[in-house]
Amino acid sequence: MAFIASALKALCLSLLFIAVVASRPTTRPKVFNVQHYGAKPDGRTDNANAFTSIWKRACARKSGSSKIYVPKGKFYLGGVEFIGPCKNQIEFVIDGILLAPSNPSDIKNETWINFMHINNLSISGAGTLDGQGKESWPRNDCSRNTSCPKLAKTMGFAFVNYSSITGITSLNSKMGHFDFLSVHHFNITGVTITAPGDSPNTDGLKFGFCSDIHISNTNIGTGDDCIAILSGTTNMDISNVMCGPGHGISVGSLGKYKEEKDVTGLTVRHTVFNGTSNGIRIKTWESSASNIVVSNFVYENIHMINVGNPINIDQKYCPYPPCEKKGESHVQIQYILLKNIHGTSKNKVAVNLQCSKSYPCKNIELIDIDLEHKGSPSTAVCENVHGSAHGKMVPQQCLN
Ligand SMILES: *[C@@H]1O[C@H](CO)[C@@H](O)[C@H](O)[C@H]1NC(C)=O
Ligand SMILES: *[C@@H]1O[C@H](CO)[C@@H](O)[C@H](O)[C@H]1NC(C)=O
Ligand SMILES: *[C@@H]1O[C@H](CO)[C@@H](O)[C@H](O)[C@H]1NC(C)=O
Ligand SMILES: *[C@@H]1O[C@H](CO)[C@@H](O)[C@H](O)[C@H]1NC(C)=O
Ligand SMILES: *[C@@H]1O[C@H](CO)[C@@H](O)[C@H](O)[C@H]1NC(C)=O
Ligand SMILES: *[C@@H]1O[C@H](CO)[C@@H](O)[C@H](O)[C@H]1NC(C)=O
Repeated sequence: MAFIASALKALCLSLLFIAVVASRPTTRPKVFNVQHYGAKPDGRTDNANAFTSIWKRACARKSGSSKIYVPKGKFYLGGVEFIGPCKNQIEFVIDGILLAPSNPSDIKNETWINFMHINNLSISGAGTLDGQGKESWPRNDCSRNTSCPKLAKTMGFAFVNYSSITGITSLNSKMGHFDFLSVHHFNITGVTITAPGDSPNTDGLKFGFCSDIHISNTNIGTGDDCIAILSGTTNMDISNVMCGPGHGISVGSLGKYKEEKDVTGLTVRHTVFNGTSNGIRIKTWESSASNIVVSNFVYENIHMINVGNPINIDQKYCPYPPCEKKGESHVQIQYILLKNIHGTSKNKVAVNLQCSKSYPCKNIELIDIDLEHKGSPSTAVCENVHGSAHGKMVPQQCLN
């Protein structure tokens, strides 16, 4: 009896298994291995045309999803633009190296690899985007020269939704590494971003007018902001990020342009800043054109290792002309929670809260802050800031 019962059970299970397998969509993605479609991994041939025509075929497929596969090897690529909307979802798997032109004037557009108007795109793989920025960095003289050359960002996304990047590496961008404009529901996981600490304007991840963004398990070392969060960005969740070298996780600068929108709903958790010039930073222009709100931020469980300005709210941002040191920022900063933030500060002032006289910061809450400077307690600066503090408080708080 027991034997028959277990035989029946096994039969049922296998029938169930067949049923489950059969009910799965039978259409596997069609694979476009770029090497089988004319791309050459010799590190010299420009594969831009090959990649563009592969994209067009993959994007137009009605009968199922597509997978564009870049195998191991060095694929030299001039500027490319991948435009949707596509008929189906697309996987872009990069196991090889995509090599940018080293001469910056060989990329005509603002972005080396640009994705636009796409839903359901997933980029993954163990490969590398090599921006070859070294040759262009010395030409970045924009702080001195108003007609300075425009250098390309490595990868851009505009009007892209329900998409993700997993696992790839971006190396030595000419300007920023990844740029997001009007991107919604986007996940970034396991990404590595690397450029020297003194490479100019090589932001890691930059967002404007984006929403519902998740960033996790990502390692960013670069010459500018690890993550820059600009106008109109809402509902962003950052966790398990290593930042350094770099300028920290920055919100702003904000307030300079009239058409700006609020920045709300940011959480930063389990993040380490190592040797960065700033850690947590919010900056708004001193002479401000827009009247917007920055609110509902949570920074929690953050470790600082020898960070220049670990916590820095700066509403007097005015780095160079034509910015005039007059007027007050009209950006309202409120509901900011800073909890369990510890480690070491390079500067004596570890907590700088310099808010606007016309729009003082409101509901700033500090809980368990422990930041030391050369083995002694650090200090805090407060201007026009209201809030509360609980738990361990080094430096001594100065809220009112
Ligand atoms: C450069 O930008 C123009 C205008 O948006 C576009 O038509 C063109 O396809 C782009 N070229 C490359 C190589 O990205
Ligand atoms: C994107 O994915 C969503 C949910 O999985 C699906 O409803 C939608 O049809 C997909 N769109 C495209 C263009 O594949
Ligand atoms: C993505 O969402 C934005 C905002 O809803 C929309 O403007 C854009 O057209 C969407 N992109 C695509 C490809 O549907
Ligand atoms: C400014 O940049 C342009 C474009 O690269 C260059 O031709 C010019 O020589 C630069 N001017 C100065 C003063 O460096
Ligand atoms: C992003 O990650 C969240 C949480 O893991 C998941 O629910 C969501 O479907 C993901 N979205 C995309 C577009 O991958
Ligand atoms: C911080 O950076 C220094 C210098 O790059 C490195 O030696 C050290 O291992 C890093 N610390 C952590 C905890 O990653």
